[in-house]
Amino acid sequence: MWKPDRHNPKPLYEQIADHLEQRISYGEFPPGSLLPSERKLAEQLGVNRSTVILAFGELRSMGIIESRPGSGTRVSKFKWGAVPKHTPNWKRYAEGGSFLPNLPFLRRIREALQQNPALIDFASGELSADLAPIEEMTELMGTNPYPSYLGYGHPQGYMPLRQAVASYLDRYRGIQATESSILITSGSQQSLYLITQCLLSPGDAVAIEDPSYHYSLPMFQSAGLRLVRLPADEEGILPEEIRSLHKKHRIKMIFVNPNFQNPTGTLLSDDRRGALLEVASELGLPIVEDDPYSLTDYEGIPRSPLKSMDRVGSILHIGSFSKMAAAGLRVGWMVAPHSIVERLADARQQMDFGLSVIPQQVAARFLESPYFEPHLHRLRTQLRRKRDLLVEALQQELPDSVRFHVPQGGIHLWCRLVPSVSDAKLLEEAIKKGVVFVPGSVYGSDSGYVRFTFGRAKAEEIGPGIAKFAEALRGLTDSFPTVKKAK
Ligand SMILES: Cc1ncc(COP(=O)(O)O)c(C=O)c1O
Repeated sequence: MWKPDRHNPKPLYEQIADHLEQRISYGEFPPGSLLPSERKLAEQLGVNRSTVILAFGELRSMGIIESRPGSGTRVSKFKWGAVPKHTPNWKRYAEGGSFLPNLPFLRRIREALQQNPALIDFASGELSADLAPIEEMTELMGTNPYPSYLGYGHPQGYMPLRQAVASYLDRYRGIQATESSILITSGSQQSLYLITQCLLSPGDAVAIEDPSYHYSLPMFQSAGLRLVRLPADEEGILPEEIRSLHKKHRIKMIFVNPNFQNPTGTLLSDDRRGALLEVASELGLPIVEDDPYSLTDYEGIPRSPLKSMDRVGSILHIGSFSKMAAAGLRVGWMVAPHSIVERLADARQQMDFGLSVIPQQVAARFLESPYFEPHLHRLRTQLRRKRDLLVEALQQELPDSVRFHVPQGGIHLWCRLVPSVSDAKLLEEAIKKGVVFVPGSVYGSDSGYVRFTFGRAKAEEIGPGIAKFAEALRGLTDSFPTVKKAK
């Protein structure tokens, strides 16, 4: 039992105050807990009660303890400033907030790519360095590198970029939009975030394609939304199904990715585009048209977007630079009624005061430059070549074990494995062999589907990457015949 040292030149009450402060800081007396009474403490420490009263007075003046008549002396709950340091419980903080973590498979893929940059990457939804217009952008920025003023930008985005996007939409997508109906975002992802957070409420049901890229975003669940899956085949979703699903779930919004859909690569047929608009306008449902891939159409004739056929104003159209130029630029846009653009721009201000003007300037110059058209042409040609290399490699390596439709644009090929194998085991085996892909269950499908993205890998990596994947697959089941590679 500790006792104050009577030979110590420090006064007794100060020694007692220090001693109590230490015990409080070690957690022996947590915030809000009751301390022994003055009388009892005086007895225990062998001092006068007046000495303990002085010690308590000292601690009270530092805000460490509080006394209330009739309820004794307690460790302060609120004023811990003077108490020696405590490390916050960061783990608990990290588990807090409303954002759910990314899906475990996606975190595993990211970790594997960080640990081994030599992995052949069929997972990342982006373009390889040789497909991005880096040289063109460098040249465009070289002459006049920065805008004349670098203050906070307009809440809807940099005006010259909104003008450039409006003329791009008119020329390439047949969409008539003015600068005031365009919101610049840091990519489609942010457009989706703003829509789910600001236009919908927890408990609302939203319809997504089955399978769907949107299923892979915990963002939807973090916003408290219920996901209703729309059945789909090789021609995209079946619009007629929306009626019965709406009856059952009271759908509030429909999310579609009609061109070279992520993950299946499918193109929504013209008939179904018409039918979808018909059903949505009948039910008064807004549609989010997520359209990052249309300009990668290998024939160079992208389908008309839903927005260009929209006569009643039910479409929020979102686009991005990510899949047609450079994901790292982080530039995207949304076309919406002005009231919605204003609401989202206001929310956006609260989040980050808008996207930096510099990438917006790069994007504006590139869209308006003579480099844009030839870049698109080269991009389509190169992507088609990569698609062909992938199809050829799958046919050679796994002729009896995979089923797929050949995409006519975009960067994804959706593959069914016959027979099915466990997603988790296949991913781990593939990582061991030196290749990475995204298991289909990430997008809501059953085990046994794989998304191969061929935009990110170099052309010369595609054959060897599929050979490694085939090895991993064969390692998991004896039933796959070993296929010799044709010379
Ligand atoms: C369908 C779809 N929507 C949105 C995004 C997000 O893209 P961005 O880089 O524009 O935020 C992606 C990225 O893979 C996508 O495939």
